[in-house]
Amino acid sequence: MSSSFQAPKGVNEYVPPRADLLQAIRHAFAEQARLAGYGYLELAVFEDTTLFKRGVGESTDVVSKEMYTFEDRGGRSLTLRPEFTAGVLRAVLEHNLHKRGGLPVKIWTTGPAFRAEQPQAGRYRQFYQLDLEAIGTEDPQVDAETIAIAWNWYRSLGLTRVRLLLNSLGCKECRPAYRARLQEFLRGLDLDEPTRQRIEINPLRVLDDKRPEVRAQLEGAPLMADHLCADCKAHHDRVRALLSDLGITWEDTPTLVRGLDYYTRTTYEFDHPLLGAQSGIGGGGRYDGLSEDIGGPELPGIGFGLGLDRTILALEAEGAAFAAPPRCQVFGVAIGDEAERRVFGLVNELRRAGIAADMAFGGKRLKGAMKDADRSGARYAVILGERDIAAGSAQLKDLGGGDQAAVPLDEIVTTLRERLSSR
Ligand code: HAM
Repeated sequence: MSSSFQAPKGVNEYVPPRADLLQAIRHAFAEQARLAGYGYLELAVFEDTTLFKRGVGESTDVVSKEMYTFEDRGGRSLTLRPEFTAGVLRAVLEHNLHKRGGLPVKIWTTGPAFRAEQPQAGRYRQFYQLDLEAIGTEDPQVDAETIAIAWNWYRSLGLTRVRLLLNSLGCKECRPAYRARLQEFLRGLDLDEPTRQRIEINPLRVLDDKRPEVRAQLEGAPLMADHLCADCKAHHDRVRALLSDLGITWEDTPTLVRGLDYYTRTTYEFDHPLLGAQSGIGGGGRYDGLSEDIGGPELPGIGFGLGLDRTILALEAEGAAFAAPPRCQVFGVAIGDEAERRVFGLVNELRRAGIAADMAFGGKRLKGAMKDADRSGARYAVILGERDIAAGSAQLKDLGGGDQAAVPLDEIVTTLRERLSSR
């Protein structure tokens, strides 16, 4: 019987073995980040509410509708992070990481984020992201580097169907004129009242409208790509040339706007065709004005957030072979008190040698312990009884093939290491 409590609605919890998979894909990402020189940051889970209002933007759905905001005992307004970028930049500035040496500051972090969205498959109120940011340079090579890191990670997981959608949202020089032009176009359409209001507050978001009747009217809308200033165009062309050099394929997507206000220039999304409505498995882009928006110096940046929940769904949808490392490779089975003492020691020795090992607990007899061994997923069982101890050996049983042979006790660890590594 379960308790009378359940996790709150929309909280995506993971239990083994899926949680082991989550952890393994995080490890795979940690490796990609390390190889590219990104340091790890353990970030605050809640922040001053104003950070998100100013950083992410009051007109965004994330800030206006989806934040978990509360007052603490000291009367401060705090918010559970709905995303990482604003907090990462806040932390970089607070700890003066941008003054410690060369720029960019390269940093990554991971953990839960919180948005009060209507839960459905792939959309949760507590979900998990990997977030990576390069702060302090406008160099387009860094834009391409971030994309390549995510790309390499998806490949390392065995995902083959991820699509990269790419766009440029311009900068504070060219976007205002484009925005005005887009507004003029949108005001002439037949749209409902909330959409009309959106035209005045955040017209670019209208381009993202998925309703067919709106989509039909958007044909012929002016696109940012056709209104980039010379610098933004050169930047965008360079990013695309670099991606080509790296063999990364993308789809130019001039209607890609993303839901957060801080984006400038390069913006991108990773999309998975098998995931239905929630197909955005990751997204990112430049935020060259964000530092100033939150009271910092001029410090351009770029990064991405990759959704771990949707990545797991994508792995499952593709049937990708990526798996968590085994939690048990060798299972110890003891018959009798002295054997149990020895097996307990042997299991510890195996673990020290880097072999995942476990044993039956609770004084089980041979039959029950062998059942546990089968259930554990171990490749081998080490069985030890009184007679084996007297002979100075243990029985090594291949749980896959069934073969069993006596191995001298002092050779067990090396024998298992060899057998397991040759597989
Ligand atoms: P975002 O597109 O809002 O960007 O989120 C990034 C990814 O998080 C999405 O592509 C999606 O996979 C996942 N995600 C978002 N909301 C949910 C949800 N409710 N349930 C499950 N997964 C979700 C950002 O958060 C930016 N901070 C990314 C960034 C970093 N841009 C620059 N640096």
